Order: sequence, then structure tokens, then C-alpha cells
Amino acid sequence: MSTEIKYLGHSSFQVLTNNKSILMDPFLTDNPTATTTADEIDADVILVSHGHYDHVADVEAIAKRTGALLIANYEIVTWFQNQGITNTHAMHIGGQHVFAFGTVKLTIAHHGSCLPDGSNGGQPTGIILKTVDGTIYHAGDTGLFLDMQLIADEDIQVAILPIGDNFTMGPADSVKATAFLKASTVIPAHFNTWPLIEQDTDRWQQAIQSETTAQPVVLSPGESFLLQKP
Ligand code: NI
Ligand code: MN
Repeated sequence: MSTEIKYLGHSSFQVLTNNKSILMDPFLTDNPTATTTADEIDADVILVSHGHYDHVADVEAIAKRTGALLIANYEIVTWFQNQGITNTHAMHIGGQHVFAFGTVKLTIAHHGSCLPDGSNGGQPTGIILKTVDGTIYHAGDTGLFLDMQLIADEDIQVAILPIGDNFTMGPADSVKATAFLKASTVIPAHFNTWPLIEQDTDRWQQAIQSETTAQPVVLSPGESFLLQKP
């Protein structure tokens, strides 16, 4: 048995675990790098890190079609309830909850979180997802922060970190973040979607290998990493 972490492009991931499909920050329709569509993706759960369009764009359509459980901070959940989404679970930073598919804990992130219509999306978050096969940390959009050393206490197997720069941390800070998190594996996100956030992933991989103990795994949209119990 293993947990599959499939990259959907930008910051979107599908985690297949315990016979459930968990989407993180689904952004497919207007994502130039996406290899799947909002009409065809399966979802039992949707996790959202913050309110920005490139993280929530397809949440409403997928949630309404599939009936998936939407989990996010209180402000984002309330906004989607007003769009007619009823299967929701609100959480907030520092809080953890045990679900049938795994355990979710929200962390801080240093970023913004306004929703597509300008509504207040509360504080942005990172997402810790504890599966039967190990713990995944999706940092969302954030700059580097020293408290990632506390997140390391959660025993992170896979860290998903933004490396695109400009809106989030760039490659150099993501190397420091990887060291703070003591993650076994690090997967880059939030890069190469548009020219403004283009990055050289070969150079990034070399930096991770020479400066941390983590294994860098660069996924193209549609590719997966298998998380297996050690
Ligand atoms: Ni953002
Ligand atoms: Mn973003």
C-alpha cells in the first residue's frame, strides 16, 4: 500500500490515499500547465490553503459536481457556503482534526488570502496532511519563516514548497525551508506556470542535494510521487 501524490500543475496536487481522492488547491481550468480538467477529476475532499484565485478557481465547480468535503480556514469555508457549498469543515491555524481519510492540521503562512471577489479570506495557511503512509506538508504560498523548525516536529516525509519567487519564496529560500523542515523528500510547486515565476529546476535540485539531506523530486504536471511507509 502507498499514498500517491500527483502533481496537477502550479500548486495543485491530488493525494490518493486510503481509497480517497484529496485535492489540494485545485486550479485547472485557467492553468496553462494543467493536464487534467475540473470536469473529469475525482474528489472526496478538497483542501484549500488560501483564498487567491490560483488556489481556489475550480473549488466551487468540483465541490458541486462531486459533493467533496471542503476543508479550509473559517473565512474561506464561509465564503464557499455562500456560493452554495454545503459539505464543509472549517478549521484554523494551529488546529488539527482527525478525519476518516487522515489527519489535517493548518499552519501559518506569510502571504495574503483575499478571495476572487475581494472578500476577506482570513489568514493564509499551510496544510499538514497525515496519511497512513506518512506526513505531507503543503506550504501553500508563503515566504520563508523560522517557525518551519516547529513544523519539523510533525515528522514531515514530503514537503511541497513554492519555489517560483516574486509572489512566494524563491529557490534559495526553499533550500533553507527544506533544511528547517528536515523533510525526507521535497517537491517544488508554484513555478513555471507563467514567465514571471519561471525557475531552473536543475539548479534547484543541485542546491537541495548539496545543502540539505532531502531528496528533491521535480514533477511535471500529471506525474506522481509514491509515499511509502519506511
Ligand atoms: Ni497566493
Ligand atoms: Mn499563488
